[in-house]
Amino acid sequence: MKTRYYHLPRLTGVDALRLDEREVPAPRPREVLVRMRAWSLNYRDLMIASDAYGRVLKPDVVPLSDGAGEVVDAGSEVTRWREGDRVAGIFMPGWLSGPPAARKTAGALGGPADGVLAEYVLFDEEALVAAPAHLNFAETATLPCAAVTAWHAVAVTGGLAPGQSVLTLGSGGVSLFALQFAALGGARVLATSSDDAKLERLRSLGATDGVNYARTPDWGRLVAEATGGGVDHVVEVGGAGTLPQSLEAVRVGGRISLIGVLARGGGADPSSVLLKGVTLQGMFVGSREMFEQMNRAIEHHRLRPVVDRAFPFAEAPAAYWYFAGRGTSGRWSSRTSDDERRLTGRLLTLPKGEGRRCPRQPGRRAERDAPRPASDERKGTDPHERRRSPGRAEGLLQRRRGRIRPALRGARSPAGIADCRR
Ligand SMILES: NC(=O)c1ccc[n+]([C@@H]2O[C@H](COP(=O)([O-])OP(=O)(O)OC[C@H]3O[C@@H](n4cnc5c(N)ncnc54)[C@H](OP(=O)(O)O)[C@@H]3O)[C@@H](O)[C@H]2O)c1
Repeated sequence: MKTRYYHLPRLTGVDALRLDEREVPAPRPREVLVRMRAWSLNYRDLMIASDAYGRVLKPDVVPLSDGAGEVVDAGSEVTRWREGDRVAGIFMPGWLSGPPAARKTAGALGGPADGVLAEYVLFDEEALVAAPAHLNFAETATLPCAAVTAWHAVAVTGGLAPGQSVLTLGSGGVSLFALQFAALGGARVLATSSDDAKLERLRSLGATDGVNYARTPDWGRLVAEATGGGVDHVVEVGGAGTLPQSLEAVRVGGRISLIGVLARGGGADPSSVLLKGVTLQGMFVGSREMFEQMNRAIEHHRLRPVVDRAFPFAEAPAAYWYFAGRGTSGRWSSRTSDDERRLTGRLLTLPKGEGRRCPRQPGRRAERDAPRPASDERKGTDPHERRRSPGRAEGLLQRRRGRIRPALRGARSPAGIADCRR
């Protein structure tokens, strides 16, 4: 039987995408054949299509790392899966658990190795995870790259804990998941965006404070002031162009997870890393073990990824253009006879109410509005505790109202973990 797949004979941009046919592949003994039902785009896929990824890629590669589908056939020695199972592929088929290593992180899908933008894809049986039961295929397809990276940063190395403060940059895929995971764990989440409407959406997903980075280029200082000395953790997706501000925003002894390269620029001063004792940690997606752990949390909390818009498989180039911000005319409908096969993106242009919201914690307002203890009553408490308490942050906001208020409008106390687990 013939089946359709995309490939990139040249890396000259989205127009180079070719749709072709091939025979449905037959699984070898340890392989599983998956009928793909949804796919998702990441910034990396745009870089790969235009040869801006900076790594050796497989010639004529089948693009995309992220997709979800159902098992339709399995090799004779497969024990982990059976027909009908709903699954997603893992980003790096060789990284199942433990710390990263060169042999584990080689062969990422949709770049150095063929990816998943095809109707039928063969996976090694070890290179799949079960889809969270409450998620549809389109939602599941958003998980392998952006969500696992965010989970790795926030929950695995970031030491997520109630009361921690986490800064996310922009409203892209990684940042949305980081925000959702951090809010779920009871962190105070501060978010930046270039767009006030998106900041509102980010608040509806659990951000407590928002800064428009386009209007406020020195957002790092504002964040540091609003948190009484800096955030515990910055989930850094901007790279060279945002690192100087992230170093302003982080507290002494805090952490910056280096993930992305969205913003050009430079000038990060290494002395602020050492003077502040900041931990800078680079990371590359994550292992199957992290993916499975994340899925347990997603399922337990019934968290729903943010999905923007779906395109039929046959219109994948339109999805690429839309994701790149150029194809928003509404010409491509998601309601077609091919509706089940969806290519999804995570631009934040959803109707309100999508995604999980951490409700306000009852009683927080009363706590915040209560008279603050005299300074001698606070003596003897841990300085970090004092610095991070909502009362102190609120005090800063009020004292510097003229400067901070416009950028941090709508700031509120963090939702507690109990709220999120209801
Ligand atoms: N290391 C890894 O394992 C890993 C994994 C996944 C992704 N990444 C990298 O992480 C980055 C984000 O990936 P993604 O797929 O989440 O991207 P994405 O979905 O394309 O994110 C786009 C959003 O990023 C925000 N943005 C752009 N420039 C910004 C800036 N100067 N400051 C703050 N925010 C800015 C914008 O938010 P607003 O519109 O709200 O302003 C934009 O909408 C990329 O560089 C990607 O290559 C790395």
